[in-house]
Amino acid sequence: MKDQLVLLTGATGFIGGRLLRRFHEQGIRVRCLVRSPKKFQTLYPNLSDIELAEGDLVQGTGLAEALQGVQASYYLVHSMGPSPGSAGKGFAEKDRLAARNFRRAAEEAGVERIIYLSGLGEQGSGLSTHLSSRQEVGQILASGTVAATELRAGVIIGSGGASFEIIRYLTERLPVMVAPRWVDTRCQPIYVENVLDYLAGCLEVPETAGQIFEICGPDQFSYRELMLTYARVRGLTRFILTVPVLTPKLSSYWVQLVTPIPGSLVQPLIGGLKSEVICLDTRIHDLIPVRLIPMEEAICTALSEEEQGPGALPSRQACLFRE
Ligand SMILES: NC(=O)c1ccc[n+]([C@@H]2O[C@H](COP(=O)([O-])OP(=O)(O)OC[C@H]3O[C@@H](n4cnc5c(N)ncnc54)[C@H](OP(=O)(O)O)[C@@H]3O)[C@@H](O)[C@H]2O)c1
Repeated sequence: MKDQLVLLTGATGFIGGRLLRRFHEQGIRVRCLVRSPKKFQTLYPNLSDIELAEGDLVQGTGLAEALQGVQASYYLVHSMGPSPGSAGKGFAEKDRLAARNFRRAAEEAGVERIIYLSGLGEQGSGLSTHLSSRQEVGQILASGTVAATELRAGVIIGSGGASFEIIRYLTERLPVMVAPRWVDTRCQPIYVENVLDYLAGCLEVPETAGQIFEICGPDQFSYRELMLTYARVRGLTRFILTVPVLTPKLSSYWVQLVTPIPGSLVQPLIGGLKSEVICLDTRIHDLIPVRLIPMEEAICTALSEEEQGPGALPSRQACLFRE
C-alpha cells in the first residue's frame, strides 16, 4: 500500500489536514491538490516534503496534472466556505461542477478509487439543500468508471470543525440559550480521529470500494443533550429553552452573532439541523473495526487541541483532570 500514490483534496481543511498528517506519519506517498500552495506552506511549514499540485475543482484547473500516476484519491472538499471565483453560483451548483470535473479527470487519469466524506441524513425526509448536495456529490462521483466509496458522517467532534466550533461558542457564551425546536433532533456525533480511522481504513480494505457506508460515534444525542454534555465536561451550568417561533433563518443570524463561523457555512449547517443524522447501517464495523471514542472523551480532547477562543484547555492532562 505504501507504494501507491494517493491524491488528497481539501488538505488545507479540517479533515484533509488531519488525514494528511496521519498519512505523512505512516509514510504513505501523498500528493495534495490545493488552490493556494502559499496557504498550504503557511499551515504546514514542517511538511515541505509533500508534493503539491495547484488546481481548483470548481474551475476544473490542474486536475490532469494532479491525478497523473495516482491510484487512490480522497475527495474532502465542499464549496460552502467564503471562496473566490465562480461568483453568483450557489454552493450546490459549485459542488456539482466540482464533482463532475473530478470524476471526469479521475477516469481519464486511470485512478482506481475515489474515497469521499459525505453527510448523513435520509433522502426523502425533507433533507436540507446542504445534506442533499453532499449526497448528490456522492452520486456524481460514483456514476463513472472509478470505484467510489462514500462515507456519510453527521456532526464531527474536533478542534476547528465547523459544527464543533458552533457548539463550543454557543455553549461557552450563552448561560441561558433560547433555541428553536430543532435542538431536540437526534444526531450521532463522531470523533474526528475515528473519521480518519475509517477514511484511512478504506484504502486498506478493498471490499469498501464502490460502497456507501454510514459512520457514527457510539451514542445518540439530541443537539440539546450534546450541548449539555459539552457544558458538563467544562463544568458549566447551562439552560436551553425551546421556542416554536425561531425559524432556521433567524437561528442562523443568531449563531453568526455569537460565533466566529462565517455565514456562508452557518446557514447551510443550520438548515440541516431539522433532519435526524443517526446511523441506521453499521456494516462498516465488520470491515473496519475501530474503537469508537465516547463523546465526553472526544470533547475533552478537542478542547485540549484548541489554541484560542473560549473553553480552550491548556493540555490533554488538564482535560482528563476535569473528568
Ligand atoms: N466538518 C464536519 O463536521 C463534517 C461533517 C460531515 C461531513 N463533512 C465532509 O467532510 C468534507 C471535508 O470537510 P471539512 O470540514 O474538512 O471542510 P473545510 O475545513 O471547510 O475544508 C474544505 C477544503 O476544501 C477545499 N476547497 C474548497 N473549494 C475548493 C475548490 N474549488 N478546489 C479545491 N479545493 C477546494 C478548501 O481549500 P481552501 O483552503 O483553498 O479554501 C479546504 O481545503 C466535506 O465533504 C464535508 O461535507 C464534514
